[in-house]
Amino acid sequence: MFILVTGGAGYIGSHTVLELLETGHKVVVLDNLVNGSYESIRRIEKISGKSVPFVEGDVRDRDLLSKIFLNYQIEAVIHFAGLKAVGESVVTPLAYYDANVVGSLVLCQAMADAGVYSLVFSSSATVYGPHAPVPYVEDMPRAWTTSPYGNSKSIVEQMLEELSQSDPRWRIVLLRYFNPVGAHPTGLIGEDPRGVPNNLMPFISQVAIGRIPELTIYGNNYPTKDGTCIRDYIHVMDLASGHVLSLKALRNGVNTYNLGTGEGISVLQLVKTFENITGQSVPYRFGPRREGDLAAFWADPSQAQRKLGWCSGRGIEEMVKDTWRWQKNNPNGYDAS
Ligand code: NAD
Ligand code: UD1
Repeated sequence: MFILVTGGAGYIGSHTVLELLETGHKVVVLDNLVNGSYESIRRIEKISGKSVPFVEGDVRDRDLLSKIFLNYQIEAVIHFAGLKAVGESVVTPLAYYDANVVGSLVLCQAMADAGVYSLVFSSSATVYGPHAPVPYVEDMPRAWTTSPYGNSKSIVEQMLEELSQSDPRWRIVLLRYFNPVGAHPTGLIGEDPRGVPNNLMPFISQVAIGRIPELTIYGNNYPTKDGTCIRDYIHVMDLASGHVLSLKALRNGVNTYNLGTGEGISVLQLVKTFENITGQSVPYRFGPRREGDLAAFWADPSQAQRKLGWCSGRGIEEMVKDTWRWQKNNPNGYDAS
């Protein structure tokens, strides 16, 4: 039996595919490569010594999905495929609702047709909205967020809950990621953003390697200890293991888990930690706040610990070391090979 991983050539998907292979699962990947790289699949095969069937195509392509379900005996789907740039989603909301909402909808239709009812969905801490108290706990209500990207995640969560209420055969896990960072310890796979990175960690590492002259820290007048925003950074390998454990824990209905460490770190703290650990300097200056940013949020991860037996074993030093190894070994991401 295979696990179908949509978006498996992307950042979190590639690390999860590797973790699945290393825990004895067979995997087939579907990815349209709009933001992923086939080179990541090649490197997964190199690290694991196993082959990964890869289908290049779109998760909205119902006929293609039917063929995949026909050709492979799929026991469950992990659904990463989608668009994720918050700022871009404000400019092109329809593209985001199409990829994220329509993509998930078509996937569920194809799964039901094929009699596959087990699904792990990539959601985000953003669904708690801008006014939730910290730490975020899963039973807090979902809220409208400040972007079409965030709202697309809330809509899919809602759709999946209604779907499972309509048909008790569905076994769904919603994973709400906090801020994924880091890379596989081999330094062979990692995050390879197209163009200028939107997220903090890849931006810092590209400044450190000299691809970008300096970091702009968005705001230093937030009500936090050093005035910069606080986030809960989580190692991508810990996220990957959260997916493998979720497969084991699938049961009827919808179960929702935060995947975060429970610890908040400020932007300045992260920059300083990066400099200390790598010995590289990261020039920065303070700029205005970025629209839509929240001052501080982090996870209450206790539900995932209790019910999945999951814990985020890797601390911030390991996140930085692994990010830097990947960046140093692949200064131009996957393109260099
Ligand atoms: P990513 O862009 O690296 O990976 C997504 C993959 O999906 C890419 O390889 C892309 O080519 C593929 N894809 C996109 N649209 C597709 C489509 N229509 N059909 C087939 N493939 C398609 O992103 P990631 O960081 O690995 O994120 C994976 C998932 O996790 C996304 O759904 C994202 O919204 C969610 N998420 C990410 C973060 C984060 O910070 N990285 C945080 C919370 C949630
Ligand atoms: C963003 C998204 C969120 C998404 C998450 C992971 C917004 C408002 N939210 O979260 O929906 O789930 O990414 O993909 O975009 N920062 C700088 N300079 C930079 C880049 C970032 O100071 O060049 C700061 C930001 O202001 C923020 C922190 O670093 O305080 C983390 O930023 P980022 O990595 O983009 O993640 P989030 O904003 O938390």
